[in-house]
Amino acid sequence: MFVTLSAAVTADGFMDDRTPRRLLVSTPEDMAEVYRLRAGHDAILAGAETLRRDNPALLLRDPEARRRRTELGLRPDLAKITLTSSGNLDPSMRFFTEGDADIYVFSSRSLPHLKGVAEVIPADTPLSARAIVTELEKRGIRRLFVEGGARVLRMFLAEGMADTLRLAVNPALRLGEEGRAHFAFASSSDIPCKHERFGGMEVTQWQLKPDTAETDLHYLRMAVAESRKCTPCATSYCVGAIIVACDGAVFRGYTHETSPTHHAEQEAIAKALAAGADLRGAAIYSSMEPCSQRASEPESCTQLILRHGFAHVAFALYEPDRFACCRGALTLREAGVDVRFRPELADEVRAANAHL
Ligand SMILES: NC(=O)c1ccc[n+]([C@@H]2O[C@H](COP(=O)([O-])OP(=O)(O)OC[C@H]3O[C@@H](n4cnc5c(N)ncnc54)[C@H](OP(=O)(O)O)[C@@H]3O)[C@@H](O)[C@H]2O)c1
Ligand SMILES: [Zn+2]
Repeated sequence: MFVTLSAAVTADGFMDDRTPRRLLVSTPEDMAEVYRLRAGHDAILAGAETLRRDNPALLLRDPEARRRRTELGLRPDLAKITLTSSGNLDPSMRFFTEGDADIYVFSSRSLPHLKGVAEVIPADTPLSARAIVTELEKRGIRRLFVEGGARVLRMFLAEGMADTLRLAVNPALRLGEEGRAHFAFASSSDIPCKHERFGGMEVTQWQLKPDTAETDLHYLRMAVAESRKCTPCATSYCVGAIIVACDGAVFRGYTHETSPTHHAEQEAIAKALAAGADLRGAAIYSSMEPCSQRASEPESCTQLILRHGFAHVAFALYEPDRFACCRGALTLREAGVDVRFRPELADEVRAANAHL
């Protein structure tokens, strides 16, 4: 998933003041730009405190963008997402009542008062950005726009789950003691960024992660080609895996290639080790999400990937809940691995598994 963080702050870094009325930190021109950026995403997320304080509807304002989505068979508004541990969310809030969107609430509580207005996604405690991204990917969301508030933005940044951050500073507004929801980004010279003055705001956009889409798809196509070498069998998926070591060496593997209990990732890792490759920091591309539990082998592919120190994992299809409830992607993310889901090739992976 591609995750954009967006915030407007005062010159002293506050997203709001302490009064009950809604403070507009942005200028109208900057707000219009934020609405335009929203339209390039398919979901928008805001924390429960933002909903309680500002009561935003979080709609897609551009009629052209709404029309385009409808033509694609999508609901006109972006999917709306919030998260709460208290459960203190009133179903009469505009977030729930306005527009035509899929609405998701992440919470460890069951929230019966939101039945019929939102899908409540059960969450472990503490709820993480990594879990949110993983669950939303499984629901088809590919580009997420996170509009605050400060706590939610800090969570995505701290977990390394943001691709880009747009911070708009209003140089004419200072709140001092009156400020609340402080948000600052500790930039460093190695993070690419661009600055511009826009509608009276000073806007900086940081590219927090490199764009790996093209490389991921290139190697995933090779992984899918490997998966087609498998002999279909009723008890396992046909999966292919490609490893790219830090020195550029490439290793391949597919399910059951050398043993009836081996998975594709295992086969590729065995070849890399036999060739003396150092896999710390390497990338592995698997046509399907790496498994997280094995009955017939001592380690799952997720454990193998972690033990050998891979830094980057990409896959094209989440493992269906057919043989096990897979937590591979989430476990890898929780360990700090950069995990990329590339559903562009999902249909090809499904076709390679048509026997199941
Ligand atoms: N200037 C801007 O661009 C902008 C944009 C958006 C918001 N804002 C301002 O930002 C302020 C709100 O920011 P904020 O930092 O106070 O709050 P927030 O980030 O909007 O929401 C925090 C709330 O989200 C839930 N939450 C966050 N992390 C969670 C986790 N890991 N697990 C479970 N629940 C979690 C909790 O809800 P519960 O308390 O229900 O458990 C928490 O209190 C508002 O005043 C709003 O006006 C400004
Ligand atoms: Zn496996």
